Amino acid sequence: MTIDGKAIAGRVMADLIPRAERLAQAAGRKACLAVVLVGDNPASRTYVRAKIKAAELVGIQGKELEFPAGVPQDELLAAVSALDADPSVDGILVQLPLPPQIDPDRVLDAISPAKDVDGFHPANVSSLQLGRPCTIPCTPKGIIRLIDSTGVSIEGKRAVVVGRSNIVGKPVAKLLLDRNATVSIAHSHTRDLKSLTREADILVVATGKRSLVDGSMVKPGAIVIDVGITRTAEGTLGGDVDFASAKDVAAWITPVPGGVGPMTVAMLMENTLECFEARINR
Ligand code: GUN
Repeated sequence: MTIDGKAIAGRVMADLIPRAERLAQAAGRKACLAVVLVGDNPASRTYVRAKIKAAELVGIQGKELEFPAGVPQDELLAAVSALDADPSVDGILVQLPLPPQIDPDRVLDAISPAKDVDGFHPANVSSLQLGRPCTIPCTPKGIIRLIDSTGVSIEGKRAVVVGRSNIVGKPVAKLLLDRNATVSIAHSHTRDLKSLTREADILVVATGKRSLVDGSMVKPGAIVIDVGITRTAEGTLGGDVDFASAKDVAAWITPVPGGVGPMTVAMLMENTLECFEARINR
């Protein structure tokens, strides 16, 4: 069966509306999410638009800042630091990837952990690893919710994560471990990927390689979460999993588009309200 990420995200967003309203009453203003876009990557622009639109839908003020691809690092760092110091801003997100003259670590370090709605700051990353309270990165958090939506228990299951990025692979592996799955992380140097993925009760694929995983690599009855999204020259969107062949083998599978993507945006809204609430109660 298909895991309808779009519908599940829609319900999460609807539930966030009264929470945003309640917090706005308490604070005397709406939560404010600042989204920073650098350059003209069309995919990044689409994601930033979706995030601002979702914020407004939930009752969060969206503040979009745009910089040209050639912006000097110092100028970007100054702008991010200004947002960080601005008491009317509750969450800051800098859309990745950044152009080559910018060191992403310098930018992520400039956002204080309390406003880091992406959960990318080293303090949040280390807290996640240590099991301390933190902001959980949006995509991994959304993936766990999508798995939970199936009603299948994660505990004791064999989980395989293909991809080891800081944004998805590593944090989702930790979240699955926290839920008592037995977790393996595969990557571009993994030998015999197929024999590993065929053992997975839960298979998360986050590589950015179109159709890397097909039905022959999926264990019958598995839950398959496809994080990849790429556009072909003809303009069709597709994932890291070949949906057509995998859907008949898996018990549950996320489509692309309409799976993980909308859930990531919904989790960003939830993280923003969590940061807002913590700031109000400070
Ligand atoms: N680029 C791809 N995924 C993400 C994300 O979750 N957050 C940000 N800021 N950039 C991204």
